[in-house]
Amino acid sequence: MKPLSRIEKLPTYVFTKVDQLKSEYLQRGIDIIDMSMGNPDGHTPAPIVEALIQAAKLPQTHRYVKPPKGIESFRSAVASWYEKNYSVGLDVDSEIVATIGAKEGISHLALAISEAHDCVLVPSPSYPIHTYAFLIAGAQVDTFSVQSEQKMLVEIKQKLESNKQIKAIMLNFPANPTGHCVEIGFFEEIIALAKHYQTWIIHDFAYADLCFDGYCAPSILQVKGAKDVAVEICSLSKSYNMPGWRVGYMAGNVNLISALTKIKSYYDYGIFAPIQIAAVEALLHGDEYRQSICDIYQQRRDVLCAGLQNIGWPVQAPKATMFVWAPIPERFSHLDSLEFTKVLLDKAHMVVAPGIGFGEAGDHAVRFALIESPQRMVEAINRLEAFIRSTRAVDFKEKRIGAG
Ligand SMILES: Cc1ncc(COP(=O)(O)O)c(C=O)c1O
Repeated sequence: MKPLSRIEKLPTYVFTKVDQLKSEYLQRGIDIIDMSMGNPDGHTPAPIVEALIQAAKLPQTHRYVKPPKGIESFRSAVASWYEKNYSVGLDVDSEIVATIGAKEGISHLALAISEAHDCVLVPSPSYPIHTYAFLIAGAQVDTFSVQSEQKMLVEIKQKLESNKQIKAIMLNFPANPTGHCVEIGFFEEIIALAKHYQTWIIHDFAYADLCFDGYCAPSILQVKGAKDVAVEICSLSKSYNMPGWRVGYMAGNVNLISALTKIKSYYDYGIFAPIQIAAVEALLHGDEYRQSICDIYQQRRDVLCAGLQNIGWPVQAPKATMFVWAPIPERFSHLDSLEFTKVLLDKAHMVVAPGIGFGEAGDHAVRFALIESPQRMVEAINRLEAFIRSTRAVDFKEKRIGAG
């Protein structure tokens, strides 16, 4: 048979790989503390579920949804959310499109706008779809390092100056996997660069609502004139514990919104109406849930970071997201992130995401997702401490575990 080259070139998705590693231990009945995938463990608030149930009972919601860019009440709720939280005005008809989660929106936008000679600048390390949406769509990808605002601006400017094929810049702040945050001044500079170099900006704002200690992550659309070049993509997955529902939205530049809307009318024709109706309930009346979900992550962050600190693995506490990015401790630095993940699984029966899953630049670290309770986190810390105490680093140098 002829080869399936496009798919064969794709590496196995990081969480598929981690699940494969985990399954052998689960089959043996071993209790694994799982902090690998950012898959919220809390339930969706009851009024949102109830809104879905009631809407699903109405036969008219069972048809293809019109228009495929999202029902009017959903797009209006998005516009209200932006107005209320960021004082950003959006045109409900031309500047908002409903998406089947943020990932789908990014992927289909990539497909809609990419041509073979185009290059897209993506953060490094980054959430995999930021890179692979464009590679799958046939474009080239170049990277910039996630570091201080000033250094990122210098690097992005240099890349724009030297490569005229850069069609778009992908951003994601608060960032997965590093938890890196920026201030509005960074977005102002990026928008100015994008206008100067005639480049689009796509900002993944999936962690808009998961901000701690009073920090409020800026929306790129708050920058005056941002809509000339930028779109922002948001998700209900994390903010309202709705990852399985697959609902999000993209807002901003009319040309990019129209490109995504058009390609979606060919591919998927939009989201089941009761899900959109339930999402309206979340966006318009969900502030209380949003806050309590955020508080839960903040408490878990504190427990995990303090615990790691106590056992001699200091990490930077993130200002936002549901992740703690943890450089591999010095004594294990001879291991790459997948090997270190395997060691943690084998010796401490806990699982994290290996940094390599977010690109080469992540291979010196692992990512903890804050999806276990504080009690389970304390248990994980105890297991880690026992393991670290019982082992000398030299054992691991000798027993390098195959990267698989
Ligand atoms: C940065 C980022 N964007 C998007 C997503 C996925 O969002 P959704 O569930 O809406 O597709 C995630 C999930 O982990 C993420 O970390």
